[in-house]
Amino acid sequence: MSAMMDQAISSTEQLRAFYEPPNAIVLDKVITTFDKHTSAFVQASTFLAAHIRDDAGGPVPLIAGGPAGFARIIDPATIEIDFARDCWPDSRLPLSNLYSVGLLFVLPGVKESLRMKGAASVKWSPDDSAALRLTLRIDNSFFQCGKAFIRSKMWEPPKALTRWKGFRAFKCIRKEQESAVITSFYFAPADGGALPQFNPGQHIQVQMTCPGDDAPVRRAYSLSGRPGDDLIRITVKRERPPAVASNFLHDHVDVGSLLEMRSPSGRFVLNENSERPIVLLSAGVGLTPMLSMLEHLVAGAIKRQVWYFHGASSGREHAMNAHVRKIEREHSNVHVHVCYSRPRPEDMRGADFNSEGRLSIGLLKSVLPWDDYEFYICGPGPFMKSMAEGLMANGIRSDRVRWETFSSEKIDIAGPEDIAPHGGEGVVRLPVVADVTSEIEFRKSGMTVSWTDGCLSLLDLAEAHGVPVRSSCRMGDCFSCAVPILSGDVHYVRDLEETPDEGTVLLCSAVPRGRITLDI
Ligand SMILES: Cc1cc2nc3c(=O)[nH]c(=O)nc-3n(C[C@H](O)[C@H](O)[C@H](O)COP(=O)(O)OP(=O)(O)OC[C@H]3O[C@@H](n4cnc5c(N)ncnc54)[C@H](O)[C@@H]3O)c2cc1C
Ligand code: FES
Repeated sequence: MSAMMDQAISSTEQLRAFYEPPNAIVLDKVITTFDKHTSAFVQASTFLAAHIRDDAGGPVPLIAGGPAGFARIIDPATIEIDFARDCWPDSRLPLSNLYSVGLLFVLPGVKESLRMKGAASVKWSPDDSAALRLTLRIDNSFFQCGKAFIRSKMWEPPKALTRWKGFRAFKCIRKEQESAVITSFYFAPADGGALPQFNPGQHIQVQMTCPGDDAPVRRAYSLSGRPGDDLIRITVKRERPPAVASNFLHDHVDVGSLLEMRSPSGRFVLNENSERPIVLLSAGVGLTPMLSMLEHLVAGAIKRQVWYFHGASSGREHAMNAHVRKIEREHSNVHVHVCYSRPRPEDMRGADFNSEGRLSIGLLKSVLPWDDYEFYICGPGPFMKSMAEGLMANGIRSDRVRWETFSSEKIDIAGPEDIAPHGGEGVVRLPVVADVTSEIEFRKSGMTVSWTDGCLSLLDLAEAHGVPVRSSCRMGDCFSCAVPILSGDVHYVRDLEETPDEGTVLLCSAVPRGRITLDI
Protein backbone atom coordinates (compact mmCIF):
# COMPACT_ATOMS: atom_id res chain seq x y z
CA MET A 1 0.00 0.00 0.00
CA SER A 2 1.10 3.52 -0.56
CA ALA A 3 2.45 6.09 1.86
CA MET A 4 -0.92 7.80 1.63
CA MET A 5 -2.55 4.88 3.46
CA ASP A 6 -0.25 5.53 6.39
CA GLN A 7 -1.92 8.94 6.79
CA ALA A 8 -5.63 9.54 7.18
CA ILE A 9 -7.40 10.25 3.89
CA SER A 10 -9.38 13.37 4.62
CA SER A 11 -10.59 14.63 1.25
CA THR A 12 -12.11 13.35 -1.97
CA GLU A 13 -9.03 14.64 -3.79
CA GLN A 14 -6.78 12.46 -1.64
CA LEU A 15 -9.09 9.52 -2.17
CA ARG A 16 -9.01 10.03 -5.93
CA ALA A 17 -5.24 10.34 -5.87
CA PHE A 18 -5.02 7.09 -3.95
CA TYR A 19 -7.33 5.09 -6.19
CA GLU A 20 -6.11 6.60 -9.48
CA PRO A 21 -8.44 6.98 -12.47
CA PRO A 22 -10.31 3.97 -13.80
CA ASN A 23 -9.17 2.10 -16.86
CA ALA A 24 -10.81 3.26 -20.11
CA ILE A 25 -12.62 -0.03 -20.57
CA VAL A 26 -14.12 0.23 -17.12
CA LEU A 27 -15.74 3.46 -18.18
CA ASP A 28 -17.80 1.68 -20.80
CA LYS A 29 -19.95 0.60 -17.85
CA VAL A 30 -22.97 -1.63 -18.25
CA ILE A 31 -23.63 -3.38 -21.53
CA THR A 32 -26.20 -5.98 -22.51
CA THR A 33 -24.29 -7.90 -25.17
CA PHE A 34 -20.65 -8.87 -25.46
CA ASP A 35 -18.43 -6.17 -26.86
CA LYS A 36 -14.77 -6.46 -27.76
CA HIS A 37 -13.59 -5.74 -24.21
CA THR A 38 -15.87 -8.17 -22.43
CA SER A 39 -15.38 -10.90 -25.01
CA ALA A 40 -11.59 -10.46 -24.83
CA PHE A 41 -11.75 -10.73 -21.04
CA VAL A 42 -13.88 -13.90 -21.21
CA GLN A 43 -11.60 -15.47 -23.86
CA ALA A 44 -8.58 -14.83 -21.64
CA SER A 45 -10.21 -16.04 -18.41
CA THR A 46 -9.16 -19.28 -16.79
CA PHE A 47 -11.42 -19.02 -13.74
CA LEU A 48 -14.90 -17.87 -12.79
CA ALA A 49 -17.23 -17.98 -9.85
CA ALA A 50 -20.98 -18.38 -10.32
CA HIS A 51 -23.78 -17.62 -7.94
CA ILE A 52 -27.02 -19.46 -8.69
CA ARG A 53 -30.18 -18.59 -6.85
CA ASP A 54 -32.23 -21.66 -6.00
CA ASP A 55 -36.01 -21.83 -5.54
CA ALA A 56 -35.70 -20.94 -1.87
CA GLY A 57 -33.62 -17.87 -2.83
CA GLY A 58 -30.53 -19.34 -1.21
CA PRO A 59 -27.09 -19.00 -2.80
CA VAL A 60 -25.52 -21.94 -4.60
CA PRO A 61 -21.89 -21.06 -5.32
CA LEU A 62 -20.08 -22.86 -8.16
CA ILE A 63 -16.61 -22.39 -9.55
CA ALA A 64 -15.20 -23.41 -12.89
CA GLY A 65 -11.81 -23.16 -14.53
CA GLY A 66 -9.75 -24.44 -17.41
CA PRO A 67 -7.51 -23.26 -20.22
CA ALA A 68 -8.24 -19.81 -21.67
CA GLY A 69 -11.43 -20.11 -23.71
CA PHE A 70 -13.11 -22.65 -21.41
CA ALA A 71 -16.04 -20.21 -21.12
CA ARG A 72 -17.44 -20.03 -24.65
CA ILE A 73 -19.30 -17.10 -26.21
CA ILE A 74 -22.05 -18.61 -28.35
CA ASP A 75 -23.63 -15.45 -29.70
CA PRO A 76 -23.44 -11.75 -28.70
CA ALA A 77 -25.65 -12.35 -25.65
CA THR A 78 -25.04 -15.98 -24.69
CA ILE A 79 -22.24 -17.74 -22.90
CA GLU A 80 -21.75 -21.45 -22.22
CA ILE A 81 -19.72 -22.92 -19.34
CA ASP A 82 -19.12 -26.52 -18.30
CA PHE A 83 -19.04 -27.25 -14.56
CA ALA A 84 -17.91 -30.47 -12.91
CA ARG A 85 -20.91 -32.76 -12.37
CA ASP A 86 -20.30 -33.29 -8.68
CA CYS A 87 -20.53 -29.58 -7.79
CA TRP A 88 -24.26 -29.51 -8.52
CA PRO A 89 -26.51 -30.04 -5.47
CA ASP A 90 -28.97 -32.14 -7.48
CA SER A 91 -31.13 -33.06 -4.50
CA ARG A 92 -32.31 -29.42 -4.40
CA LEU A 93 -31.94 -28.09 -7.95
CA PRO A 94 -33.70 -29.78 -10.92
CA LEU A 95 -31.79 -29.39 -14.18
CA SER A 96 -34.92 -28.46 -16.09
CA ASN A 97 -35.33 -25.07 -14.34
CA LEU A 98 -34.26 -21.64 -15.58
CA TYR A 99 -32.07 -20.02 -12.92
CA SER A 100 -31.07 -16.50 -12.14
CA VAL A 101 -27.26 -16.53 -12.26
CA GLY A 102 -24.43 -14.08 -11.55
CA LEU A 103 -20.93 -14.71 -12.91
CA LEU A 104 -17.63 -13.17 -11.83
CA PHE A 105 -14.55 -13.46 -14.07
CA VAL A 106 -11.18 -12.64 -12.54
CA LEU A 107 -7.81 -12.52 -14.30
CA PRO A 108 -4.61 -12.79 -12.24
CA GLY A 109 -2.73 -9.49 -12.24
CA VAL A 110 -5.61 -7.51 -13.80
CA LYS A 111 -7.26 -4.96 -11.56
CA GLU A 112 -10.67 -5.19 -13.26
CA SER A 113 -13.08 -8.05 -12.87
CA LEU A 114 -15.97 -8.78 -15.19
CA ARG A 115 -19.45 -9.29 -13.77
CA MET A 116 -22.39 -10.62 -15.64
CA LYS A 117 -25.91 -11.69 -14.78
CA GLY A 118 -28.83 -13.24 -16.58
CA ALA A 119 -31.08 -16.27 -16.88
CA ALA A 120 -29.43 -19.67 -17.32
CA SER A 121 -30.47 -23.19 -18.17
CA VAL A 122 -28.44 -26.16 -16.93
CA LYS A 123 -28.18 -29.43 -18.86
CA TRP A 124 -25.89 -32.40 -19.12
CA SER A 125 -22.99 -31.56 -21.39
CA PRO A 126 -23.46 -33.54 -24.64
CA ASP A 127 -19.65 -33.87 -25.04
CA ASP A 128 -18.70 -34.85 -21.52
CA SER A 129 -20.85 -36.95 -19.23
CA ALA A 130 -18.96 -35.70 -16.16
CA ALA A 131 -19.96 -32.10 -16.84
CA LEU A 132 -23.02 -29.89 -16.55
CA ARG A 133 -23.44 -27.23 -19.20
CA LEU A 134 -24.74 -23.88 -18.03
CA THR A 135 -26.03 -21.62 -20.82
CA LEU A 136 -26.50 -18.05 -19.70
CA ARG A 137 -28.31 -15.33 -21.64
CA ILE A 138 -26.83 -12.10 -20.28
CA ASP A 139 -29.05 -9.18 -19.46
CA ASN A 140 -26.37 -7.05 -17.80
CA SER A 141 -22.58 -7.08 -17.83
CA PHE A 142 -19.96 -4.63 -16.61
CA PHE A 143 -16.37 -4.28 -15.61
CA GLN A 144 -15.76 -3.49 -12.01
CA CYS A 145 -12.50 -1.98 -10.97
CA GLY A 146 -11.43 -2.16 -7.36
CA LYS A 147 -9.37 1.00 -7.90
CA ALA A 148 -12.11 2.98 -9.57
CA PHE A 149 -15.15 3.30 -7.32
CA ILE A 150 -16.86 3.52 -10.65
CA ARG A 151 -20.35 3.02 -9.33
CA SER A 152 -19.96 5.52 -6.52
CA LYS A 153 -19.83 8.50 -8.92
CA MET A 154 -16.51 9.51 -7.44
CA TRP A 155 -15.20 10.00 -10.95
CA GLU A 156 -16.36 12.44 -13.55
CA PRO A 157 -18.16 11.06 -16.63
CA PRO A 158 -15.69 9.80 -19.22
CA LYS A 159 -15.34 13.06 -21.14
CA ALA A 160 -11.63 12.56 -21.83
CA LEU A 161 -12.47 9.46 -23.84
CA THR A 162 -12.89 11.49 -27.01
CA ARG A 163 -9.96 12.70 -29.11
CA TRP A 164 -8.21 15.74 -27.73
CA LYS A 165 -7.33 18.89 -29.65
CA GLY A 166 -3.72 20.03 -30.05
CA PHE A 167 -1.03 18.64 -27.76
CA ARG A 168 -1.57 16.97 -24.38
CA ALA A 169 1.11 16.20 -21.79
CA PHE A 170 2.01 12.55 -21.14
CA LYS A 171 4.26 11.10 -18.47
CA CYS A 172 6.62 8.20 -19.15
CA ILE A 173 5.68 5.36 -16.80
CA ARG A 174 7.92 2.58 -18.10
CA LYS A 175 10.85 2.20 -20.47
CA GLU A 176 11.90 -1.19 -21.80
CA GLN A 177 14.75 -2.11 -24.07
CA GLU A 178 13.38 -4.53 -26.68
CA SER A 179 16.55 -5.15 -28.73
CA ALA A 180 19.99 -3.59 -29.21
CA VAL A 181 18.42 -0.72 -31.15
CA ILE A 182 14.72 -0.68 -30.22
CA THR A 183 13.14 0.56 -26.99
CA SER A 184 9.51 0.78 -25.87
CA PHE A 185 8.13 3.72 -23.88
CA TYR A 186 4.84 3.56 -21.97
CA PHE A 187 2.99 6.81 -21.31
CA ALA A 188 -0.03 7.85 -19.23
CA PRO A 189 -1.87 11.18 -19.57
CA ALA A 190 -0.29 13.64 -17.10
CA ASP A 191 -3.75 15.07 -16.38
CA GLY A 192 -4.88 11.68 -15.05
CA GLY A 193 -7.69 11.54 -17.64
CA ALA A 194 -8.69 8.63 -19.79
CA LEU A 195 -7.44 7.71 -23.24
CA PRO A 196 -9.59 7.44 -26.34
CA GLN A 197 -9.86 4.17 -28.20
CA PHE A 198 -7.54 4.12 -31.17
CA ASN A 199 -7.61 1.89 -34.21
CA PRO A 200 -4.84 -0.68 -34.41
CA GLY A 201 -2.26 0.64 -36.87
CA GLN A 202 -2.68 4.30 -35.93
CA HIS A 203 0.13 6.52 -34.72
CA ILE A 204 0.61 9.41 -32.39
CA GLN A 205 2.54 12.60 -32.99
CA VAL A 206 5.09 13.29 -30.28
CA GLN A 207 6.51 16.75 -29.61
CA MET A 208 9.80 17.07 -27.76
CA THR A 209 12.39 19.76 -27.15
CA CYS A 210 15.80 18.29 -27.78
CA PRO A 211 19.00 19.77 -26.30
CA GLY A 212 20.45 22.39 -28.65
CA ASP A 213 17.18 22.82 -30.56
CA ASP A 214 15.16 26.00 -30.09
CA ALA A 215 12.03 24.77 -31.78
CA PRO A 216 10.31 21.62 -30.57
CA VAL A 217 10.72 18.58 -32.80
CA ARG A 218 7.68 16.58 -33.87
CA ARG A 219 7.69 12.98 -35.02
CA ALA A 220 5.06 10.32 -35.60
CA TYR A 221 5.25 6.98 -33.78
CA SER A 222 2.88 4.07 -34.29
CA LEU A 223 1.04 2.88 -31.24
CA SER A 224 2.49 -0.56 -30.62
CA GLY A 225 0.17 -1.54 -27.76
CA ARG A 226 -3.33 -2.91 -27.72
CA PRO A 227 -6.23 -0.50 -28.22
CA GLY A 228 -8.10 -0.26 -24.93
CA ASP A 229 -4.98 -0.49 -22.74
CA ASP A 230 -4.74 2.30 -20.20
CA LEU A 231 -1.22 3.25 -21.27
CA ILE A 232 0.10 4.40 -24.63
CA ARG A 233 3.08 2.42 -25.88
CA ILE A 234 5.45 3.56 -28.60
CA THR A 235 8.40 1.47 -29.74
CA VAL A 236 11.26 3.43 -31.21
CA LYS A 237 14.34 2.47 -33.19
CA ARG A 238 17.50 4.43 -32.48
CA GLU A 239 18.44 5.75 -35.90
CA ARG A 240 22.05 6.55 -36.72
CA PRO A 241 23.12 9.93 -35.30
CA PRO A 242 22.54 12.77 -36.04
CA ALA A 243 18.93 11.48 -36.16
CA VAL A 244 17.39 13.83 -33.62
CA ALA A 245 14.18 12.50 -32.11
CA SER A 246 14.96 8.79 -31.85
CA ASN A 247 18.29 9.48 -30.10
CA PHE A 248 16.64 12.01 -27.81
CA LEU A 249 13.99 9.46 -26.82
CA HIS A 250 16.55 6.71 -26.19
CA ASP A 251 19.02 8.90 -24.31
CA HIS A 252 16.90 11.48 -22.48
CA VAL A 253 13.40 10.13 -21.97
CA ASP A 254 12.99 7.98 -18.89
CA VAL A 255 10.41 7.17 -16.24
CA GLY A 256 8.93 10.50 -15.09
CA SER A 257 9.75 12.44 -18.30
CA LEU A 258 6.97 14.53 -19.79
CA LEU A 259 6.29 14.71 -23.53
CA GLU A 260 3.48 16.23 -25.52
CA MET A 261 1.33 14.23 -27.89
CA ARG A 262 -1.50 14.77 -30.31
CA SER A 263 -4.50 12.51 -30.38
CA PRO A 264 -3.99 9.17 -32.22
CA SER A 265 -4.58 9.42 -35.94
CA GLY A 266 -3.75 7.75 -39.21
CA ARG A 267 -5.48 5.78 -41.92
CA PHE A 268 -3.28 2.70 -41.98
CA VAL A 269 -5.70 0.70 -39.85
CA LEU A 270 -7.05 -2.79 -39.63
CA ASN A 271 -10.20 -3.37 -41.64
CA GLU A 272 -12.55 -4.61 -38.96
CA ASN A 273 -15.53 -4.98 -41.28
CA SER A 274 -14.14 -8.18 -42.64
CA GLU A 275 -13.54 -11.73 -41.48
CA ARG A 276 -10.98 -12.47 -44.21
CA PRO A 277 -7.69 -14.02 -43.11
CA ILE A 278 -4.91 -11.51 -42.63
CA VAL A 279 -1.26 -11.38 -43.57
CA LEU A 280 0.93 -8.91 -41.66
CA LEU A 281 4.28 -8.19 -43.30
CA SER A 282 6.91 -6.09 -41.57
CA ALA A 283 10.61 -5.45 -41.61
CA GLY A 284 12.78 -3.75 -38.98
CA VAL A 285 10.91 -1.31 -36.76
CA GLY A 286 7.94 -1.59 -39.15
CA LEU A 287 6.73 -4.20 -36.67
CA THR A 288 5.12 -1.56 -34.43
CA PRO A 289 1.68 -1.19 -36.09
CA MET A 290 1.68 -4.96 -36.69
CA LEU A 291 2.06 -5.63 -32.96
CA SER A 292 -0.97 -3.50 -32.23
CA MET A 293 -2.98 -5.23 -34.95
CA LEU A 294 -1.89 -8.67 -33.75
CA GLU A 295 -2.75 -7.93 -30.11
CA HIS A 296 -6.11 -6.55 -31.17
CA LEU A 297 -6.89 -9.52 -33.41
CA VAL A 298 -6.17 -12.14 -30.75
CA ALA A 299 -8.23 -10.23 -28.17
CA GLY A 300 -11.31 -10.21 -30.40
CA ALA A 301 -14.14 -12.69 -30.38
CA ILE A 302 -13.79 -13.44 -34.11
CA LYS A 303 -10.84 -15.70 -34.74
CA ARG A 304 -9.51 -14.59 -38.10
CA GLN A 305 -6.52 -16.56 -39.37
CA VAL A 306 -3.45 -14.34 -38.97
CA TRP A 307 -0.12 -14.91 -40.68
CA TYR A 308 2.65 -12.67 -39.40
CA PHE A 309 5.88 -12.48 -41.44
CA HIS A 310 8.71 -10.35 -40.10
CA GLY A 311 12.18 -9.65 -41.43
CA ALA A 312 15.15 -8.49 -39.35
CA SER A 313 18.88 -8.69 -39.86
CA SER A 314 19.41 -10.84 -36.75
CA GLY A 315 18.25 -11.47 -33.21
CA ARG A 316 20.34 -8.47 -32.12
CA GLU A 317 17.96 -5.98 -33.76
CA HIS A 318 14.78 -8.04 -33.58
CA ALA A 319 12.35 -6.66 -30.96
CA MET A 320 9.60 -8.47 -29.07
CA ASN A 321 10.20 -11.86 -30.65
CA ALA A 322 9.46 -13.72 -27.40
CA HIS A 323 6.19 -11.83 -26.98
CA VAL A 324 5.02 -12.59 -30.53
CA ARG A 325 6.02 -16.26 -30.18
CA LYS A 326 4.00 -16.46 -26.97
CA ILE A 327 0.96 -15.08 -28.78
CA GLU A 328 1.49 -17.70 -31.48
CA ARG A 329 1.71 -20.51 -28.90
CA GLU A 330 -1.47 -19.36 -27.17
CA HIS A 331 -3.58 -18.82 -30.30
CA SER A 332 -3.95 -21.56 -32.86
CA ASN A 333 -5.16 -19.04 -35.47
CA VAL A 334 -1.82 -17.14 -35.37
CA HIS A 335 1.14 -18.30 -37.51
CA VAL A 336 4.50 -16.52 -37.28
CA HIS A 337 7.43 -16.69 -39.69
CA VAL A 338 10.64 -14.74 -39.03
CA CYS A 339 13.43 -14.23 -41.57
CA TYR A 340 16.93 -13.14 -40.54
CA SER A 341 19.14 -11.85 -43.33
CA ARG A 342 22.34 -12.18 -41.25
CA PRO A 343 21.64 -14.51 -38.29
CA ARG A 344 24.26 -14.60 -35.53
CA PRO A 345 25.69 -17.96 -34.45
CA GLU A 346 23.54 -17.79 -31.29
CA ASP A 347 20.28 -17.21 -33.24
CA MET A 348 18.46 -20.55 -33.27
CA ARG A 349 16.61 -21.58 -36.42
CA GLY A 350 13.17 -22.85 -35.42
CA ALA A 351 13.17 -20.94 -32.13
CA ASP A 352 14.37 -17.41 -32.96
CA PHE A 353 13.90 -17.41 -36.71
CA ASN A 354 12.39 -19.65 -39.36
CA SER A 355 14.38 -18.92 -42.48
CA GLU A 356 17.59 -17.23 -43.52
CA GLY A 357 17.45 -14.43 -46.09
CA ARG A 358 15.20 -11.49 -46.79
CA LEU A 359 11.46 -11.59 -46.60
CA SER A 360 10.34 -11.88 -50.22
CA ILE A 361 7.34 -12.75 -52.35
CA GLY A 362 9.05 -16.07 -53.20
CA LEU A 363 9.25 -16.96 -49.52
CA LEU A 364 5.65 -15.88 -48.95
CA LYS A 365 4.45 -18.11 -51.76
CA SER A 366 6.40 -21.07 -50.44
CA VAL A 367 5.10 -20.76 -46.86
CA LEU A 368 1.61 -19.29 -47.15
CA PRO A 369 -1.30 -21.43 -48.31
CA TRP A 370 -2.70 -19.11 -51.04
CA ASP A 371 -6.09 -17.68 -50.02
CA ASP A 372 -8.20 -14.53 -50.17
CA TYR A 373 -6.16 -12.50 -47.66
CA GLU A 374 -5.93 -8.89 -46.61
CA PHE A 375 -2.29 -7.78 -46.55
CA TYR A 376 -0.80 -5.08 -44.30
CA ILE A 377 2.79 -4.00 -44.98
CA CYS A 378 5.13 -1.75 -43.01
CA GLY A 379 8.87 -1.36 -43.30
CA PRO A 380 11.59 0.38 -45.32
CA GLY A 381 10.55 1.80 -48.70
CA PRO A 382 12.22 -0.80 -50.96
CA PHE A 383 10.76 -3.65 -48.87
CA MET A 384 7.25 -2.24 -49.10
CA LYS A 385 7.55 -1.53 -52.78
CA SER A 386 8.76 -5.04 -53.60
CA MET A 387 6.13 -6.71 -51.41
CA ALA A 388 3.17 -4.60 -52.56
CA GLU A 389 4.12 -4.77 -56.24
CA GLY A 390 4.93 -8.49 -55.95
CA LEU A 391 1.56 -9.26 -54.40
CA MET A 392 -0.32 -7.37 -57.09
CA ALA A 393 1.80 -9.00 -59.81
CA ASN A 394 0.69 -12.33 -58.33
CA GLY A 395 -2.96 -11.45 -58.75
CA ILE A 396 -3.77 -9.91 -55.36
CA ARG A 397 -6.33 -7.12 -55.79
CA SER A 398 -4.90 -3.70 -54.94
CA ASP A 399 -7.71 -3.02 -52.47
CA ARG A 400 -6.55 -6.00 -50.42
CA VAL A 401 -3.07 -4.53 -49.90
CA ARG A 402 -2.44 -1.69 -47.41
CA TRP A 403 0.88 -0.20 -46.45
CA GLU A 404 2.55 2.52 -44.46
CA THR A 405 6.00 3.97 -44.61
CA PHE A 406 7.86 5.62 -41.72
CA SER A 407 10.30 7.47 -43.90
CA SER A 408 10.08 10.68 -45.89
CA GLU A 409 11.11 9.06 -49.14
CA LYS A 410 8.39 9.06 -51.73
CA ILE A 411 7.36 5.52 -52.63
CA ASP A 412 5.65 4.98 -55.95
CA ILE A 413 3.99 1.61 -55.95
CA ALA A 414 3.17 0.42 -59.44
CA GLY A 415 0.06 -1.68 -59.80
CA PRO A 416 -2.46 -2.83 -62.35
CA GLU A 417 -4.53 0.28 -61.60
CA ASP A 418 -3.93 3.65 -60.00
CA ILE A 419 -3.09 2.92 -56.38
CA ALA A 420 -4.21 5.10 -53.49
CA PRO A 421 -1.44 6.43 -51.20
CA HIS A 422 -1.81 3.78 -48.47
CA GLY A 423 -3.38 1.15 -50.70
CA GLY A 424 -6.49 -0.54 -49.45
CA GLU A 425 -10.10 0.43 -49.44
CA GLY A 426 -11.61 3.75 -48.64
CA VAL A 427 -8.53 5.92 -49.12
CA VAL A 428 -9.48 9.17 -50.80
CA ARG A 429 -7.73 9.92 -54.09
CA LEU A 430 -6.56 13.46 -54.70
CA PRO A 431 -8.66 15.49 -57.08
CA VAL A 432 -6.66 18.03 -59.10
CA VAL A 433 -8.00 21.30 -57.82
CA ALA A 434 -5.01 23.67 -57.92
CA ASP A 435 -5.46 26.98 -59.60
CA VAL A 436 -3.00 26.58 -62.50
CA THR A 437 -2.31 30.32 -62.60
CA SER A 438 -1.10 30.29 -58.98
CA GLU A 439 2.28 31.69 -58.05
CA ILE A 440 4.08 30.37 -55.01
CA GLU A 441 6.72 32.42 -53.26
CA PHE A 442 9.19 30.45 -51.12
CA ARG A 443 10.30 33.45 -49.04
CA LYS A 444 13.38 32.01 -47.25
CA SER A 445 14.62 30.34 -50.43
CA GLY A 446 14.20 33.62 -52.35
CA MET A 447 12.24 31.97 -55.15
CA THR A 448 8.86 32.47 -56.79
CA VAL A 449 7.54 29.73 -59.06
CA SER A 450 4.37 28.98 -60.97
CA TRP A 451 2.20 26.00 -60.15
CA THR A 452 3.28 23.02 -62.22
CA ASP A 453 0.62 20.78 -63.61
CA GLY A 454 1.31 17.24 -62.49
CA CYS A 455 2.35 18.21 -58.96
CA LEU A 456 -0.06 16.65 -56.50
CA SER A 457 0.74 18.97 -53.62
CA LEU A 458 2.81 21.94 -52.47
CA LEU A 459 5.25 19.38 -51.06
CA ASP A 460 5.83 17.94 -54.54
CA LEU A 461 6.28 21.46 -55.91
CA ALA A 462 8.77 22.47 -53.19
CA GLU A 463 10.78 19.27 -53.70
CA ALA A 464 10.77 19.72 -57.47
CA HIS A 465 12.38 23.16 -57.00
CA GLY A 466 14.90 21.99 -54.40
CA VAL A 467 13.32 23.94 -51.54
CA PRO A 468 14.36 22.28 -48.25
CA VAL A 469 11.23 20.72 -46.76
CA ARG A 470 10.52 18.04 -44.24
CA SER A 471 7.99 15.31 -44.66
CA SER A 472 7.13 11.86 -43.50
CA CYS A 473 3.73 10.29 -44.11
CA ARG A 474 2.75 12.45 -47.14
CA MET A 475 -0.85 11.85 -46.11
CA GLY A 476 -1.70 14.74 -43.79
CA ASP A 477 -1.30 12.55 -40.74
CA CYS A 478 2.09 13.27 -39.18
CA PHE A 479 2.36 17.10 -39.44
CA SER A 480 6.09 16.86 -40.34
CA CYS A 481 5.50 19.07 -43.38
CA ALA A 482 3.69 21.91 -41.53
CA VAL A 483 5.19 25.30 -42.52
CA PRO A 484 4.15 28.91 -41.86
CA ILE A 485 2.07 30.57 -44.57
CA LEU A 486 2.65 34.34 -44.72
CA SER A 487 -0.08 35.25 -47.21
CA GLY A 488 -2.66 33.69 -49.48
CA ASP A 489 -4.80 30.64 -49.10
CA VAL A 490 -4.62 26.92 -49.86
CA HIS A 491 -7.08 24.19 -50.60
CA TYR A 492 -6.75 20.82 -48.86
CA VAL A 493 -7.03 17.90 -51.23
CA ARG A 494 -7.89 15.27 -48.65
CA ASP A 495 -9.90 15.18 -45.46
CA LEU A 496 -7.52 15.95 -42.61
CA GLU A 497 -8.10 14.20 -39.33
CA GLU A 498 -6.85 17.31 -37.56
CA THR A 499 -6.47 20.82 -38.94
CA PRO A 500 -3.01 22.39 -38.73
CA ASP A 501 -2.30 25.30 -36.37
CA GLU A 502 -3.48 28.76 -37.40
CA GLY A 503 -1.00 30.34 -39.85
CA THR A 504 0.54 27.03 -40.93
CA VAL A 505 -0.10 24.76 -43.88
CA LEU A 506 0.45 21.03 -44.40
CA LEU A 507 2.41 20.98 -47.63
CA CYS A 508 1.74 17.34 -48.48
CA SER A 509 -2.02 17.82 -48.54
CA ALA A 510 -2.46 21.32 -49.91
CA VAL A 511 -2.55 23.04 -53.28
CA PRO A 512 -2.53 26.83 -53.76
CA ARG A 513 -5.55 29.01 -54.32
CA GLY A 514 -4.00 31.87 -56.23
CA ARG A 515 -0.77 33.54 -55.07
CA ILE A 516 0.67 32.38 -51.76
CA THR A 517 3.83 33.07 -49.75
CA LEU A 518 5.35 30.31 -47.66
CA ASP A 519 8.03 30.96 -45.04
CA ILE A 520 10.46 28.32 -46.30
C1 LIG B 1 3.16 7.20 -39.51
C2 LIG B 1 4.54 7.01 -38.94
C3 LIG B 1 4.74 6.10 -37.93
C4 LIG B 1 6.03 5.89 -37.42
N1 LIG B 1 6.22 4.96 -36.44
C5 LIG B 1 7.45 4.72 -35.96
C6 LIG B 1 7.67 3.73 -34.97
O1 LIG B 1 6.73 3.07 -34.51
N2 LIG B 1 8.93 3.53 -34.52
C7 LIG B 1 9.99 4.25 -35.01
O2 LIG B 1 11.12 4.03 -34.55
N3 LIG B 1 9.82 5.20 -35.96
C8 LIG B 1 8.58 5.45 -36.43
N4 LIG B 1 8.39 6.43 -37.38
C9 LIG B 1 9.55 7.22 -37.82
C10 LIG B 1 9.75 8.42 -36.86
O3 LIG B 1 8.69 9.34 -37.05
C11 LIG B 1 11.04 9.16 -37.11
O4 LIG B 1 11.12 9.51 -38.46
C12 LIG B 1 12.26 8.34 -36.71
O5 LIG B 1 12.24 8.08 -35.31
C13 LIG B 1 13.54 9.08 -37.06
O6 LIG B 1 13.47 10.36 -36.51
P1 LIG B 1 14.79 11.12 -36.04
O7 LIG B 1 14.43 12.48 -35.59
O8 LIG B 1 15.55 10.27 -35.09
O9 LIG B 1 15.61 11.17 -37.39
P2 LIG B 1 15.88 12.47 -38.32
O10 LIG B 1 16.73 11.92 -39.41
O11 LIG B 1 16.39 13.58 -37.52
O12 LIG B 1 14.45 12.80 -38.87
C14 LIG B 1 13.65 11.85 -39.53
C15 LIG B 1 12.66 12.50 -40.46
O13 LIG B 1 11.98 13.57 -39.85
C16 LIG B 1 12.03 14.70 -40.70
N5 LIG B 1 12.36 15.85 -39.86
C17 LIG B 1 13.57 16.20 -39.45
N6 LIG B 1 13.49 17.31 -38.68
C18 LIG B 1 12.18 17.64 -38.63
C19 LIG B 1 11.46 18.67 -37.99
N7 LIG B 1 12.05 19.61 -37.26
N8 LIG B 1 10.12 18.70 -38.13
C20 LIG B 1 9.49 17.77 -38.85
N9 LIG B 1 10.14 16.76 -39.47
C21 LIG B 1 11.46 16.70 -39.37
C22 LIG B 1 13.10 14.51 -41.69
O14 LIG B 1 12.63 14.91 -42.97
C23 LIG B 1 13.34 13.05 -41.68
O15 LIG B 1 12.65 12.47 -42.75
C24 LIG B 1 7.12 6.65 -37.91
C25 LIG B 1 6.89 7.59 -38.92
C26 LIG B 1 5.63 7.77 -39.43
C27 LIG B 1 5.40 8.76 -40.51
S1 FES C 1 4.18 14.64 -44.45
FE1 FES C 1 2.92 13.94 -42.85
S2 FES C 1 1.48 15.52 -42.71
FE2 FES C 1 2.59 16.05 -44.42
